Amino acid sequence: MSVLGSARRLVGQLLFERRYGVRTAELVKLERFGLAGNERVYYVPANWTTLRKTLKRGEVGPDDVFIDFGAGMGRMVLEATRLPFKRVIGVELSAELHQISRENLIKTTVRRRCGDVELVCSDVLDYDIPDDVSVVFFNNPFRGSVFESVIKRLLESVDAAPRLVRVIYYNPAEAPFLESTGRFRLVGTYRQSWRSRGEGPFGITHVYEITP
Ligand SMILES: C[S@@+](CC[C@H](N)C(=O)[O-])C[C@H]1O[C@@H](n2cnc3c(N)ncnc32)[C@H](O)[C@@H]1O
Repeated sequence: MSVLGSARRLVGQLLFERRYGVRTAELVKLERFGLAGNERVYYVPANWTTLRKTLKRGEVGPDDVFIDFGAGMGRMVLEATRLPFKRVIGVELSAELHQISRENLIKTTVRRRCGDVELVCSDVLDYDIPDDVSVVFFNNPFRGSVFESVIKRLLESVDAAPRLVRVIYYNPAEAPFLESTGRFRLVGTYRQSWRSRGEGPFGITHVYEITP
């Protein structure tokens, strides 16, 4: 990306921060909290417009439940509350990032269409996936066996309570594993316009459907 392109993107993201009165635009390494692990990815937020681009009008209804695995400072949780979800959940490992997401939720000026928000501070490995979750968001939060465990439990949840689940996977580093299960149907691919081409999974978002 050109210098001008980077500057434009940064200004665009900061305008969202100002408009919503929140703090989410940072890169934070987990070493800072003593939580670094091979399969855990640091905090960096997804683009503010990701949900608007990947969820089409009318796709979210009053029975839908959104979850962000690795919610960080809560940017995508806040974005999801602008849509008519029944419930919005964010699960985050770091207590510090979780606390910032709580503060963002209190002080934001975002006009919410969903008032039922659960911010959970937990390792995803210790978190039970609710059987009504229907929109799952990953911004490349963890890799390898951690990701595989979450996917396995997500599929078990769909088998226990059959329903359509959409998975929005931003920077889909583990897409080959996901697709190897044979249970995820790719229904859309979106390129983040500010990223240059040819960077592997980085700079794209995949949308999948899991059908019972
Ligand atoms: C790339 S950031 C994504 C933040 C947020 N989803 C967004 O897009 O704005 C990945 C997040 O996953 C969290 N994370 C990493 N491993 C985790 C784990 N095992 N359980 C819960 N959260 C985890 C990190 O702390 C970090 O905040």
